[in-house]
Amino acid sequence: MGVEIDQAFVQEPQHRPNLSIAKAQEIPLIDLSPITTTNPSPSAIEALVKQIGSACKEWGFFQVTNHGVPLSLRKNLDEASKKFFSQSLEEKKKVSRDETSPSGYYDTEHTKNVRDWKEVFDFLAKEPTIVPLTPHEFDDAIIHWTNKSPNYPPNFRGTLEKYIEEMEKLGYKLLELIAMSLGLEAKRFEEFFEDQTSFVRLNHYPPCPYPHLALGVGRHKDGGPLTILAQDDVGGLQVKLKHKTDQEQWVTVEPTPNAYIINVGDIMQVWSNDAYESVEHRVMVNSGKERFSIPYFMFPAHDTEVKPLEELTNENNPPKYRPYKWGKFFVHRTDSNFRKQNEENIQIHHF
Ligand code: SIN
Ligand code: FE2
Repeated sequence: MGVEIDQAFVQEPQHRPNLSIAKAQEIPLIDLSPITTTNPSPSAIEALVKQIGSACKEWGFFQVTNHGVPLSLRKNLDEASKKFFSQSLEEKKKVSRDETSPSGYYDTEHTKNVRDWKEVFDFLAKEPTIVPLTPHEFDDAIIHWTNKSPNYPPNFRGTLEKYIEEMEKLGYKLLELIAMSLGLEAKRFEEFFEDQTSFVRLNHYPPCPYPHLALGVGRHKDGGPLTILAQDDVGGLQVKLKHKTDQEQWVTVEPTPNAYIINVGDIMQVWSNDAYESVEHRVMVNSGKERFSIPYFMFPAHDTEVKPLEELTNENNPPKYRPYKWGKFFVHRTDSNFRKQNEENIQIHHF
């Protein structure tokens, strides 16, 4: 008799992946060359802005090519990630995430109270100097968040830092295109990122003997405005189709070599007052292959007050969301004990 799965990983029947679904559709694939080549024509940029706008509206997800991120950097980080995760659990736990910082290793993440079949290492893009320590001490505790820095592989930190620089560049470009697609000033979003809380996440999904019961990451929406994801050639990311039908429909994002998958998250939904909605996604696992992915979460400064932008609201389209402090939301979301008991408090809510 085989070993039984730990019940903590088992999804409710309605949330289990349907492994037999044939590939039906693809999320949009967008060529970013108009912004990565010199002297682009204004009409090419205009066309690109339109494409981005409709992808954000119809899907909330798209892939980009010709994004300008050197392939060598991505390969270096892929390799570093594989080496890091190949170590013993004991070694990896030497850089465990703890309450002093959101950076570090962990392997017991839960999404919607079901355990995810994965292990993770998080690394902050900046090490903010003034941030709350825990949800409970949010108003008075002020500390310095620092990155956990493993000794192996050599120059792990340097590799991450170089990759982050490129992610930041691409992130700003995408935010400009998104701003333009909403009719805003191109640099409208930049002010929110001076003391940003962005971070890069290394995900490792080991092979799973129960791909019909468990998920690598359960269904969720991303909390920030924008995520830039690198997935390897194994595949498993699924995006929920926006049009409402009787049954939920999930589209598997087929791996496209060297492309990045972009999605708008909750903050963009609030900023745009629902013009662009944050879309649910999840990760399937498989019994034969391990999978690696590297999302970069572009997150604003912790003291950002998130609310619908004035330019996008008026009498006929009043603000749909109450303002909230990003830092508090972020700390709640990264505290998995808090999350387990307060799933409601870490979702954005309409008025
Ligand atoms: C996530 O959405 O948290 C991970 C996506 C992936 O691994 O493809
Ligand atoms: Fe996600």
